[in-house]
Parts: sequence; C-alpha cells; structure tokens
Amino acid sequence: MNQTSFVLKGDICYSAGPNELYTAPDGFLVCLQGQCAGVFPALPEQYASLPLLDYSGFLVTPGLTDLHVHAPQYTFRGLGMDLELLDWLNTHTFPEEAKYRDLDYAETAYRRFVDDVRAGPNTRACIFATVHPEATLLLMDLLEESGLVTLVGKVNMDRNSTPDLQEISAQASAEATLAWLEAQAGRYQRTGPILTPRFLPSCTDGLMERLAQIQQQHHLPVQSHLSENQGEVAWVRELCPSSSSYGDAYDSFGLFGGADCPTIMAHCVLCTQDEIALMKARGIYVAHCPASNTNLASGIAPVRRYLDEGIPVGLGSDVAGGTHTSIFRAMADAVQVSKLRWRLSDQARAPLTAAEAFYLGTLGGGSFFGKVGSFAPGYECDALVIDDRRFTPAGQRELSQRLERTIYLSEDRDIAHKFIRGAQLF
Ligand code: GUN
Ligand code: FE
Repeated sequence: MNQTSFVLKGDICYSAGPNELYTAPDGFLVCLQGQCAGVFPALPEQYASLPLLDYSGFLVTPGLTDLHVHAPQYTFRGLGMDLELLDWLNTHTFPEEAKYRDLDYAETAYRRFVDDVRAGPNTRACIFATVHPEATLLLMDLLEESGLVTLVGKVNMDRNSTPDLQEISAQASAEATLAWLEAQAGRYQRTGPILTPRFLPSCTDGLMERLAQIQQQHHLPVQSHLSENQGEVAWVRELCPSSSSYGDAYDSFGLFGGADCPTIMAHCVLCTQDEIALMKARGIYVAHCPASNTNLASGIAPVRRYLDEGIPVGLGSDVAGGTHTSIFRAMADAVQVSKLRWRLSDQARAPLTAAEAFYLGTLGGGSFFGKVGSFAPGYECDALVIDDRRFTPAGQRELSQRLERTIYLSEDRDIAHKFIRGAQLF
C-alpha cells in the first residue's frame, strides 16, 4: 500500500459544501503523494507523465466517514429493535460488550467488523470499543492493518452498568485509560486514540474529572452521546440537577468541545435551545445517526436546524443501534427521516436533499479528520470507484442522478476500488 501519485479518470462527484455538489463527467482526479491536486475536465500537461488509472464509466466519489460506530456491537445487529435505548443497553449491549474481556472472542468479532468495513464505502471512522484496554488495542491493530483511518476509544464507564462490564472505580477507569494510551503511543500511522466517556449516566463525577485531566494532558479528541432518547435525557436531569442541560453537564467537566478539545456528540435528537447555543459556541460535531434514532424510538434530530446554525454535522451508523455500517445507507436514512420530521412536526424547515446527505457523509463528517471528504486541492485523497452498472441503465449519464441512486441502491459489492490517503486498498 504505497502512498503514491497517480491520475484517476472517471465520472467524478464531490461536495465542497452543503449545497455545492461538483460533478466532472469523464474527469481527471490528480493525486500527488496522497493529496488531491484537483479535478480537471482535461488532464493538464504537467500531470501527463503520472500513471493513469482509467475507470471510465465508473462513479468516483470521496470516501465516506462514519462519525459514530460501536465495533463490539457488530455481533448483535438487528437484535432488540423493539426496545428503547436504556432497555436495549441493559438487555443486549452491556452483556455483549462484557464478552470482550476474552481476547479470543474479541479477535474473532473485531476481525469480522474490520473486514466488512474495509470492503464497504467507509474510509474513516470514529469508533467506540469497550472498557477493555487489551481488546481495544487488538481492534486498533486490526484497523491499522486494514488501511482504514480511524480514531478509536477505550470506553469509560464506572456506574450504572452490569458488574461484569463496569470498571470498579473512577481511579481504575482512569488508570486503565492511561495504560491504554501508553501502549498505543507511537504504534500506528492510521489509527489514533479518542477519549470516550460512554455517556453521563455511565460516568461518576470523579471519573469525568479524571478524564478532563487526561484530555488536557494528552490533547485528545472526545466522543460521547448527547440528548439521544427521552428516558435517557430525563435520567440525566436527575443525575445532574444543577446543570441546565445535558450538554451543560459535560461542559461543567470541561469535556464539551472548545479550542483544544475537538468533540463529537452522537445523536443530539432532543437538544434544547440553550444546549444548541452551547454546542455552537463549543464547536461540537454532531454525529447524526438516523437508523439508530428510528430503531430505538429516539426521534429525529433537527439536522436542518444544525446546518442553518453552522453547527458541524456528519453521519454515524451507530451500529448496533443502526444495523448497517455503510454511510451511503445513512445518507438515504437521513433524507427519509428528515421528510418525516418535516411532515409530522417541523414544517418551517425543509427536509434534506440527496446532495446535502452526500455532503454530510463525506465532507461534513470527514472534516473532523482535517482536510478530508472532498476532492478540492489539498484534501487527503480518499476515493471510491463505484460500479453502478447493476442499477444504472446504460446511457443514464446525469451524474447527480447516478449519485442519488447510488446512495439508495449501492451495496458493498458495488465498491470496485478504494483509496485512502492515495493508497489503494483494493
Ligand atoms: N448511549 C450509551 N451507550 C450507548 C450505545 O451503546 N448506543 C447508543 N445508541 N446510545 C448509547
Ligand atoms: Fe452510540
């Protein structure tokens, strides 16, 4: 997987903003040392000597970013989908995650997850592992080997779980986190750590304080869950009576964004006015997870509002709240639930378009990783070559329409080639 320089020819689509979809039929994407030099209708003379990968007739898009996924939950997708969040966590999620203490179990399960994601359209992901440092390292090793670029979190939880999963104290949780950080330091090129307090109900005040110190000392990004489900939000109100909102509770510990604390909050379905203002002030990234929010009866996040406010938003599969890892699937889900929200409760704000959903799943979430998710000059060259002939009749050439149908119809088997930072995975 040498990082390399080449020209990729095909029917190219990419976003440069929520409403800026660029298309280049029979275009040329130039990759120099893993970075995009631009997309051109005709190949500029200066690049004529680079190797040409001719994918004429295939769709070429940026790789997709899954901004929120639980790797250990891949094993029980599609189970308990008649439950709401808190019952689903207790009945299925916590018992399954407890199994990752066993490294043999973890290796088999994580290998399947990594192999499947590698074969699909996602090139980047922000991943929850479990509380177990050894199994988390094993997951990171497998991800590194896969060629995917990911941020992975050893989960922190020292209350309100089952005895076989939850950590015995704030101190034990913090020490395990530090040991994990030390073990992974310097070990990877494509895989990094992200601090992962599961959600407020799982973390004592003492643990949140320790994690804030670790965040500052190690300059780590943070991921967690926010205002997902009614039962959960009511519970947080009881647990944090002095906080004005769920987000304010994270903020009171210093784990809610800000200059040196890039933070992803999954869901953000039920955020209040003040909470949204705080998210905006702190630069919080929203991981919108429409399939999960439907399956666990959480509701529909106000994504149009977040976009109007300039709050950064990407898409998450939230496996196993969601059942499929493909972020193309999440794009279709995002459009569908936005229409229900518009029809049933919020007619002042228009539903999402396919182009906006494509933006969310590429540049929207990708930007958490830096210059990722677009083919504009200077972006890291993550690219998919998609064979859409299975569902696109010959002669249907309008690229925006082919892209929309790919969002709704593509499956992993349609991803013919995949490049990450210019390295070809297949
Ligand atoms: N909140 C706390 N843990 C979880 C989880 O594993 N999945 C989802 N969807 N929400 C959570
Ligand atoms: Fe989640």
